Amino acid sequence: MNAFGDLVKLRAMEPSDAESLWQWNHDSDVMRWMNEGYPQTPARVRKWLEERPRNDYGDVLFGVEVLSDAKLIGLVQLHGAKPETGIAVLDIYLGEKEYWGKGFATDAVRTACQYGFEKMRLHKITLTVVADNQAAHHVYQKVGFVEEGRLRQTFRRDGRWHDTYTMGLLEGELR
Ligand SMILES: CC(C)(COP(=O)(O)OP(=O)(O)OC[C@H]1O[C@@H](n2cnc3c(N)ncnc32)[C@H](O)[C@@H]1OP(=O)(O)O)[C@@H](O)C(=O)NCCC(=O)NCCS
Repeated sequence: MNAFGDLVKLRAMEPSDAESLWQWNHDSDVMRWMNEGYPQTPARVRKWLEERPRNDYGDVLFGVEVLSDAKLIGLVQLHGAKPETGIAVLDIYLGEKEYWGKGFATDAVRTACQYGFEKMRLHKITLTVVADNQAAHHVYQKVGFVEEGRLRQTFRRDGRWHDTYTMGLLEGELR
């Protein structure tokens, strides 16, 4: 089932989304505070989307679509959930930079967390964020995530080590 926020729709990713995904993954502004991985061809990204196992409890990958015009602008994922723990990890990025600063990520994170708590019956959602990624940190705090620990020098970018936070959100804390 798709999930709807006020501004975005979260839906399954299609092989035809591969070109967008490839472009985002090769945009240094988008990837600034994320692990870039190694270069891939668009064909390889498409194959990955084609062959990826279907979404399930342990790994739900959503494309983030703007509700008003159905434009795909990014993705959000809940992964690593196990029935024994009820804890999943959230990742988000918006690859279409002209959509930054307009509330889409806040709505996408909130909608994904709602999905996690209501549909998946999760107890907790966690994430890691580079301490200098102020926009992302602000979005997470706004929806209710709290800092649970600071990991020293765990992310390297532009010749410098950066600390990261682990943040957590319990069911009932989503704002
Ligand atoms: C980080 C990211 C998800 C934010 O998306 P977005 O759509 O711009 O987020 P929103 O518009 O919902 O909210 C951004 C908030 O951060 C604030 N913000 C933006 N830049 C900021 C900065 N440098 N310092 C502090 N706050 C900042 C905005 O004012 C806004 O807050 P407000 O709604 O209270 O005014 C998006 O920029 C992105 O995908 N970046 C690249 C990938 C990435 O870093 N992902 C997160 C990995 S942990």
